[in-house]
Amino acid sequence: MPILIGDTAPDFEAQTTEGPIRFHDYIDGHWAVLFSHPKNYTPVCTTELGYTAKLKPEFEKRGVKVLGLSVDKLEDHEGWARDIEETQGAALNFPLIADDGSIAKLYDMIHPNANDTLTVRSVFVVGPDKKVKLKIEYPASTGRNFDEVLRVIDSLQLTANHQVATPVNWKHGEDVIIVPAVSDEQAKEKFPEGWTALRPYLRIVKQPGA
Ligand code: BEZ
Repeated sequence: MPILIGDTAPDFEAQTTEGPIRFHDYIDGHWAVLFSHPKNYTPVCTTELGYTAKLKPEFEKRGVKVLGLSVDKLEDHEGWARDIEETQGAALNFPLIADDGSIAKLYDMIHPNANDTLTVRSVFVVGPDKKVKLKIEYPASTGRNFDEVLRVIDSLQLTANHQVATPVNWKHGEDVIIVPAVSDEQAKEKFPEGWTALRPYLRIVKQPGA
């Protein structure tokens, strides 16, 4: 069965470049990003890991723990980490799982109609409640946009705490939408500074806390 948004992220034990972990313990009340790489010593993955390492302060600001995965051996991860540092100007600063294929299988990261052994580029964002909040998949040949991953986390964290949704191309600090489940009466209490109703169902309000 595929893992869907809203499901509990399956727990697992893993060997990583920062020692053994159990996923649910690793989350430990934080948000988490689990993302897979097709294979060690491949060019696109090298750029993704370097960029993600550079984003560490942004993930930390949002209380997010990052965890990479590649179906390769721990010794190979260590050699590859040196290449990442030398070519991307950033050392690996989050755990990279050395998977024997079992976690990739558990999370459906291998798509036999793409390749029997390589994982696709999966991203799972998991909330502090250990539920899957976002799932994205890219083919092996397309590097992901980790700025977009941060943007979605901003939206997820905002909408988890306020009864709002975020419109197309929204970025942190921009106006948001009052969700339809909130009546105008309730909205008056929640958003005392008011909102703009373009239609009764399309009510624009300043981002709470911005
Ligand atoms: C890469 O990471 O560069 C890559 C991996 C598998 C297929 C194509 C590209």
